[in-house]
Amino acid sequence: MSVIDEVKQKTDIASIVSQYVTLKKAGRNLVGLCPFHDERNPSFFVYPEQQSWHCFGCNTGGDAFSFIMKKEGLDFGEALSLLAQRAGVTIPSRAGRDEEKEEKERLYKINEAAARYFHNLLLNSSEGVKARNYFQGRGFTDKTASEFQLGYSSNKWDDLKKYLQEQGYTEDELVKAGLLVESESGRIYDRFRNKLMFPILDIKGHVIGFGARVLDDSQPKYVNSPQTPAFNKSGSLYGINLAAAGIRQQDTAVIVEGYVDVITAHQNGFNNVVASMGTSVTEAQVSSLKRLTRNLVLALDADAAGEEAMLRGVSYENIIESEIRVAILPQGKDPDDVVKEDADAWRRLLSEAMPIVDYTINMIAGKLDLDTARDKSRAVKELLPVITAMNDKVRQAHYIQKLAHLVKVSERTIEAELSRLKPGPERKRVAVPAPEKATDTPRALLSNRLEEDYLTLLLQHPEYKANTENILPEYFFNSENREVFITWNKVDELARLRDALDVTLHEHLDVIASRELPSNRLDEKDADYRQRLEERYYKKLAEEIGGILAIEAAEKGSGADVAKLDEIGIEYSLHLKELYDRKSRKRLESRR
Ligand code: UTP
Ligand code: MN
Repeated sequence: MSVIDEVKQKTDIASIVSQYVTLKKAGRNLVGLCPFHDERNPSFFVYPEQQSWHCFGCNTGGDAFSFIMKKEGLDFGEALSLLAQRAGVTIPSRAGRDEEKEEKERLYKINEAAARYFHNLLLNSSEGVKARNYFQGRGFTDKTASEFQLGYSSNKWDDLKKYLQEQGYTEDELVKAGLLVESESGRIYDRFRNKLMFPILDIKGHVIGFGARVLDDSQPKYVNSPQTPAFNKSGSLYGINLAAAGIRQQDTAVIVEGYVDVITAHQNGFNNVVASMGTSVTEAQVSSLKRLTRNLVLALDADAAGEEAMLRGVSYENIIESEIRVAILPQGKDPDDVVKEDADAWRRLLSEAMPIVDYTINMIAGKLDLDTARDKSRAVKELLPVITAMNDKVRQAHYIQKLAHLVKVSERTIEAELSRLKPGPERKRVAVPAPEKATDTPRALLSNRLEEDYLTLLLQHPEYKANTENILPEYFFNSENREVFITWNKVDELARLRDALDVTLHEHLDVIASRELPSNRLDEKDADYRQRLEERYYKKLAEEIGGILAIEAAEKGSGADVAKLDEIGIEYSLHLKELYDRKSRKRLESRR
């Protein structure tokens, strides 16, 4: 049983609420003056059987967790600690979270010590001469070397290892930091040897990892830190620590591929440039930039741009909620070459950057002969999925027009194709972070099928978050689910959601995020889940109201209260009726 379940089991809502509200009996339920709004007649009810509460005056409700959160102004984790304390349950959560944080801090420290060590070797040692010559040969100034904390790693096998052990770090820690590796024979030695070192810093300036380049033409050209608790490889951007200010100022971020490209750009005054570090851009990287700007330019060679175009480009656009542009580099050149040769050429390249969807269209059109019927059809087939995936309906309409124009058919034809295609294409799944430890009883963690199905959909297909506007957190009866829902609406990315949630919820999140949903007809599913959640909520309210009215009448409660409840009750049942009407209308429509 999870801590949360244990706390729930040992907590009685009535006794919790009684500490704040004077409750009197009303049949099987309890009633009192609402602690959340001013009232003279009680409309705040506690249902011991369901372990829930509801106020008909301010129309809020929930369970013991949400009551304490609201009443004490606490977040979920804090409410959990408080309730756990009262229930006599010990939670490892806070400690667990502190441990995680401490571990990261320790890794930052180790990396910082290593970066300083490498930097010092580069500047001041005799063996650092070849690296000094190398970076000067690449045109880097001393100022750049210090801004980027460039370094040199010695050619010996255990230079860094010895140094950091003297500083008090253990071999285990250094392996965990990715600075040491273990050979098959069990020997543990320095990962980085005889390389030019590029420390990778996060936006707060922590050293999270390293890139390391050979000083000649040998292969592999780069060795990088492995994934560690401090270094999320696919979510990090090289240079973000130095570029954040420039990105904000210019309200644009330029993403390039390489370490050297970033350094050369910055040295030449282009201070809004970051690198994806060789891999294609990730959704995590895009969403981390969203807090700085909505304007992204990808500076790529034609091959890489071709890969980023098509569906991926649109999924970035959906994340950043804006257009993404691509600047195509001249054949065989990278930004480092372009900037060094001619800064104006680089400026021009960026100013001529093209919206990624236009680029995609041109790319497809360029391969086809659009005077032939066959290629017209092909163009539409290849491009419609791209256009369908766009969340921004105005831009979508624009591209429907553009595509219609391109293949010289009417927009209506394109739209007809579009609606035929609608639920069809597999939407891109967002990678789910692997659960840290396997859960032996995942089923037990699922307490509410409908809520969890809907959350799984939202977690795996974040595009449906756009439809959550009218979904009240109250529709989730289960506090864990409610918490996941509320938090997911505030962040853009699963890894970040996990960070934002209390550690006690991680297991629950991992389970709902990794469940299998049938992958087709997602649009229908989304609509269905939303409607069922809403219906269920109002139905529950109606039942509660019905019950209360009956009891009040039987006990001849105060006339005013009954009248008020009656009024509210009618309002709710009208709403309910409207929902049912809508549903049966839909059914009729679908039968036609
Ligand atoms: P590039 O080959 O373009 O390297 O790879 P670069 O940064 O321009 O380096 P120079 O100019 O040849 O010295 C782009 C990025 O891909 C990653 C690195 O992040 C690199 O900066 N990469 C490349 C690796 O991680 N490993 C490799 O072996 C090669
Ligand atoms: Mn290069």
